[in-house]
Amino acid sequence: MNGEEALLHADTGVTSGKFAERSLNEIRFWSRIMKEHSLFLRLGFRAEDTLLINEANQFYRLFENIEQTSRSFTEQSDPEQIRRFNTEVQQAAANIFGFKRKVLGLILTCKLPGANNFPLLVDHTSREANYFRKRLGELNEGKLKPLPEAIIKENVFFLRIMADHAKFIGHLLDPSERKLVDIARNFSNDFDQLMYQARDLESMKPQSQTVPLLDQFLDQNRVSVSSLRDFKKTARDLIEQCKIKSIIHPLLADHVFREADRFLEIIDMFDAHLTSHSPQSSQ
Ligand SMILES: [Fe+2]
Ligand SMILES: [Fe+2]
Repeated sequence: MNGEEALLHADTGVTSGKFAERSLNEIRFWSRIMKEHSLFLRLGFRAEDTLLINEANQFYRLFENIEQTSRSFTEQSDPEQIRRFNTEVQQAAANIFGFKRKVLGLILTCKLPGANNFPLLVDHTSREANYFRKRLGELNEGKLKPLPEAIIKENVFFLRIMADHAKFIGHLLDPSERKLVDIARNFSNDFDQLMYQARDLESMKPQSQTVPLLDQFLDQNRVSVSSLRDFKKTARDLIEQCKIKSIIHPLLADHVFREADRFLEIIDMFDAHLTSHSPQSSQ
């Protein structure tokens, strides 16, 4: 098998330990994220939106329970039990996706005047819920890692997420923090560019799926994601120490930092796959 064939060969080998490990890793990461989204949505509702507030609180508890349950499983747990748990969590992710889209509809039809959730933020969190839901489906189908065929698609998804984060930070900083607002805008432009570049590569598929092109693509993305992650870390620390003016919740700053870190892990996972399947490494 040459490098490219190997690259296109799906890595679907399912060993029960790996299956449990990957499932628990995704669930632990994303259920915390979903729990925090419920909190951010709740904070953005108006005091009179009690039904929406209750619904958000229910999702908070649901994902907190899921997070706790995931801690009671280990890599040695019965794969059948993990499979059932994945299905259950997948339903929860589908439900919070529905809730977020409903809230988006209310905002866009001006039913929540004065509420503080940006439509793009609500849409963004719904895309993350949908990603989580799909990952759980893939895991139950035996696809343990995001597939190599999906390198470009996965990057398009995460680059857009990163571009959104830069936009949220820029808009939630106090306008008087001119320097930081500028930096955030530059990141937003940088990631918009990278996202369009990724989409260009996507439209050139399957011819564009060569090891050298994908390798360069990942390297370029890694450089920008690392510096965005460092910026988010700095912002988080400054916010925690009350050194800058903003309406960014400290947990939101940490949340977007963790998502950048997750993207970097995924880039490294893909890169390791490319390296192990490149023609040089098999000589
Ligand atoms: Fe998020
Ligand atoms: Fe996000």
